[in-house]
Amino acid sequence: SRPVRIAPSILSADFAALGAEVRAIDAAGADYIHVDVMDGHFVPNLTIGPAVVKALRPHTAKVMDVHLMIAPADPYLDAFAEAGADILSIHPEASPHLHRSLQRIKALGKRAGVVLNPATPVSALDHVMDLVDLILVMSVNPGFGGQAFIDSALPKIERLRAMIDATGRAIDLEVDGGIDMTTAPRALAAGADVLVAGTASFRGGPSAYAGNIAALRHGG
Ligand code: DX5
Ligand code: ZN
Repeated sequence: SRPVRIAPSILSADFAALGAEVRAIDAAGADYIHVDVMDGHFVPNLTIGPAVVKALRPHTAKVMDVHLMIAPADPYLDAFAEAGADILSIHPEASPHLHRSLQRIKALGKRAGVVLNPATPVSALDHVMDLVDLILVMSVNPGFGGQAFIDSALPKIERLRAMIDATGRAIDLEVDGGIDMTTAPRALAAGADVLVAGTASFRGGPSAYAGNIAALRHGG
């Protein structure tokens, strides 16, 4: 079976202590550090920008997985790359010239991700698969942590697993939203290999982080 990677979303961390939170979740076994960037326009919440990514970069050597929920995204790709992001993931609805945006991310030397909202069809990927290093399936409508998992993400993950396997390339299949001890095994069984988890990673405070991540990875 394929290795499972856990990507804690710092949206659920203590924003007053972000450096210490990133160090703690790194030490607890996080594979990726998932950074949710929201603009109050594409999604109904405001979070952080490239300055925070830059400030956090010295606190971890893990993959910095930056999920851009901003429209337009293009004017900020260079800034997030320079800030130290390793993966830049964009929504087709916020990047109308999706192919060009993905080309730009690759030209910046970063891994390129495409994010599918719950209502966004898999066919959004049809003509860009050769540029994609990661596909992020939203299992909630983006904007907030702590929402309930939307079951229709599961058949979508199954279809994407088949599409990825047909390419023969190593493309991450990541799922984001409502991942907990119940939904993590279902997402993995459907074919996901990277689990984003905010609430389920950070609940209980730093002494609980290692147990939280191990439970998500191993199913209990
Ligand atoms: C939602 C974000 C998610 C969110 C997940 O817009 O993209 O990454 O932080 O939070 P949980 O795991 O609490 O659903
Ligand atoms: Zn996210």
